[in-house]
Amino acid sequence: MKELIDKLQAERILTKDEFVTLLTSFTDEDSRYLFSKARALTDELFGKKIYLRGVIEFTNYCRNDCFYCGIRKSNRNLERYRLKKEEILACCENGYKLGFRTFVLQGGEDPWYSLDKMIDIVSSIRKAYPDCAITLSIGEKKFEEYEQLFQAGANRYLLRHETADFNHYQKLHPPNLKAENRQRCLRDLKKIGYQVGPGFMVGSPYQTPENIVEDLLFIKELDPHMVGIGPFIPHKDTPLAPFPQGSLELTLILLGILRLMLPNAMIPATTALGTVHSKGRELGILAGANVVMPNLSPVEVRDKYSLYDNKICTGEEAAECRFCLENRIKGIGYEIVVDRGDYRRIVQ
Ligand code: 5AD
Ligand code: FES
Repeated sequence: MKELIDKLQAERILTKDEFVTLLTSFTDEDSRYLFSKARALTDELFGKKIYLRGVIEFTNYCRNDCFYCGIRKSNRNLERYRLKKEEILACCENGYKLGFRTFVLQGGEDPWYSLDKMIDIVSSIRKAYPDCAITLSIGEKKFEEYEQLFQAGANRYLLRHETADFNHYQKLHPPNLKAENRQRCLRDLKKIGYQVGPGFMVGSPYQTPENIVEDLLFIKELDPHMVGIGPFIPHKDTPLAPFPQGSLELTLILLGILRLMLPNAMIPATTALGTVHSKGRELGILAGANVVMPNLSPVEVRDKYSLYDNKICTGEEAAECRFCLENRIKGIGYEIVVDRGDYRRIVQ
């Protein structure tokens, strides 16, 4: 497989068949080869720097009913919460002192936060923290709504496409949710000027190697600024609870592949990766990731933002996670930087 990995690095893309071959016949030696190439490329472009994003999970209400997600509307086993604007701003203040220069407002699709309310929240953060990036992760909206939030001061948007295959998408979502609309949202966001981050779960129920290849080709075509992937982790109160967890190894391999495909991209070692293995985030960095996204939400609400079971860091204060990660990252020879960590086209 070394030839295919070399070809991927040289051309930053493979054919569908080559990708399938690569994904289905990986040996341990291939992974080591891939990780060392991906890591060397990341080091060359970013040095030993790891970028921080502070995630504020401001509402766990959601109008949607995705079959895999713990905060789906049909989960009656969950205490719901909403943070007030003042509470969100307090998270930012705490985060700023801890060296965060990107705030990610993440929530379920919660209509209680009307466009006007979101504009007010975003412009208040923009005004108080002119030197920080604001990332939104609040789901599918109309072009005009995305546009107004951008004008209010948001810079980036995370919206995982979840799976590029329309049939697979329908096995993970109710009929009112459509892959096509999600992909439309990503293209709209990019057109407006947001830095965008699609992504998918590794090992989601019914996922085939061909589906993953579709995901890689979709991402390549979108040419995003960020990509978020993590293993699927079952949540006990969802219809997909009986399915097995996604594989750590495959997630790491895909991080390496994504780095070779999109050298400039900001790629997080996600919380889900840290949940399936105690050193998951460190391994993610060593496979090509260059971002970590600790939680800035108030400790009282953390365990309620339960997308999947056994999520890490729900009992820790923001400062504890900040220093925990600092040590972990130092331990593998990297350093967290105080920087917005904007996407830059470092290599063509
Ligand atoms: N396991 C792993 N990731 C999940 N997400 C939602 N539910 C799960 C789960 N059970 C991911 C989705 C979503 C992101 C916010 O979290 O990909 O886009
Ligand atoms: Fe939260 Fe380590 S990152 S405790």
